[in-house]
Amino acid sequence: MPHALTSIAKRIPLRWSVLRFLASSVSRTGQVGDGRERALLDYVTANTGPGDLDGVIEAIDRFAREKTFLMNVGDEKGLILDAAVRQAQPSTLLELGTYCGYSSLRTARAMPADARLICIEASPANAEIARAVQRHAGVADRVSVVAGMIGDNGVTVRRLTDEYGITAGSLDFVFIDHAKQAYLPDLRTILEKAWLHRGSVVVADNVKTPGAPDYLAYMREHEGGEWRTVEHDTHVEYQPMVKDLVLVSTYAGPPQ
Ligand SMILES: C[S@@+](CC[C@H](N)C(=O)[O-])C[C@H]1O[C@@H](n2cnc3c(N)ncnc32)[C@H](O)[C@@H]1O
Repeated sequence: MPHALTSIAKRIPLRWSVLRFLASSVSRTGQVGDGRERALLDYVTANTGPGDLDGVIEAIDRFAREKTFLMNVGDEKGLILDAAVRQAQPSTLLELGTYCGYSSLRTARAMPADARLICIEASPANAEIARAVQRHAGVADRVSVVAGMIGDNGVTVRRLTDEYGITAGSLDFVFIDHAKQAYLPDLRTILEKAWLHRGSVVVADNVKTPGAPDYLAYMREHEGGEWRTVEHDTHVEYQPMVKDLVLVSTYAGPPQ
């Protein structure tokens, strides 16, 4: 934790978990490649049995609360994600931003047994960790991780079509939880490709913190037209003080 935050902790009674969140926000790029993701995988494999999906999800939450902050959707907002997946009963799901695989495990647990989830993760190192976590949790037959980005000049979009069969109307559910400035551009690409259909559900995390203001403005502007959105007031993962917003948006189809 940076020295400045340590001295704040001594002077005011902020909860430790909040300070850990603030510290990792200060050095947010330090969350990729500083060793905590590998440590998580070791912790999960040492403390849970193969195929114990519930146990792996609980172990990841415990690691993030007790050892090192992780930028997972977390257990509080995870309930919103679970409920949206259960309600949508999707067959084909896309996740943007997979990190160590936590939200993909929650999604796999909530989706129908014959559904498939395709995850896009920009960092090949994170993608490797996520695949290993998914294999250990026993969901690898229903979940794939593609190392790439929707915004990489068509490379990943082509892979989604050619290798994963994503075409017009294919996607029933999208979870957006990657670079905040990419939420709206990537949603626009998905709309241009016509991959959604009437009734597809799009869930977006971190809309308040760190924040995706253009995405929020877009959903509010199109409320009652192309989209119906429920805004869930909640908290940033693994702490009770910093507020966040999760949007659950149902697509009503293109403008007539
Ligand atoms: C907040 S974390 C995802 C957490 C994960 N959804 C969970 O709850 O377990 C964001 C992840 O998005 C990845 N990322 C950043 N920009 C991206 C992009 N344009 N496309 C895909 N992934 C991206 C980062 O490498 C990071 O692993």
